[in-house]
Amino acid sequence: MSDDALDALLAEQRAYYRARADEYDATYPLDEGHDAGARRQLVAALETHAPFGRVLELACGTGQWTGELARHASTVTAVDSSTEALAICRQRVDKPHVSLVRADLFAWHPQQRYDLVFFAAWLSHVPPQRFDAFWALVANCLTPGGRVFVIDELPAGSTIEQAAAGQPAPTVRRRLTSGESYRAVKVYYEPDLRARLTVLGWHAEVRKIGWRYFYATASKARPDGPCFAGPPAAVR
Ligand SMILES: C[S@@+](CC[C@H](N)C(=O)[O-])C[C@H]1O[C@@H](n2cnc3c(N)ncnc32)[C@H](O)[C@@H]1O
Repeated sequence: MSDDALDALLAEQRAYYRARADEYDATYPLDEGHDAGARRQLVAALETHAPFGRVLELACGTGQWTGELARHASTVTAVDSSTEALAICRQRVDKPHVSLVRADLFAWHPQQRYDLVFFAAWLSHVPPQRFDAFWALVANCLTPGGRVFVIDELPAGSTIEQAAAGQPAPTVRRRLTSGESYRAVKVYYEPDLRARLTVLGWHAEVRKIGWRYFYATASKARPDGPCFAGPPAAVR
């Protein structure tokens, strides 16, 4: 299938999260109900990396993790393509050391390097065709010795999704409370994540949390260079 078809899917995914921003926290409350225990474990795992130094959060959304990061960071730069989600994030985490950036992560380049790159519920929205380039971007965002912390869903999460067939990447169909439906990429990279990252030159560890979540930590086996060397190739 063509690049255009994938670009259209990724545009629809961005539109979905813009439209969903106001109801996101009510429909994905990782700090409530049966997920509260999972969140506690994820926060505890994240905190073993404190102090974080300069943090880059990719696809921060409404900021469900931004406050946790801000607590232990010297600065947080949080990037997302949804103006609506960023507005909620700003209300939630109104701190001078937290900067919010609106950008499409498949076209964005870092202006500096970071000690920790964090993303939750984002990797599974990266299509397989963009996986390698996405991780090249992550590498380009890191200081030598910098680390990555990833939170995402295990394949069991597919039981609560409606798969959409015939798409340019693994895709689900999501419905808003208004009834509008959108396509979103959904790729369960576990159980292969560690192996895939090893091939790309990362040292990675993956831990499962309950039935639905995992977290991964990763660092470059050989850091790419001593300092920021300019914009990377465009992420495609
Ligand atoms: C499942 S939400 C995760 C939000 C947050 N990290 C969390 O754990 O609650 C996915 C986020 O990715 C953002 N997003 C989708 N496509 C994007 C893109 N191409 N560039 C940047 N952000 C994007 C959406 O706006 C949304 O906030």
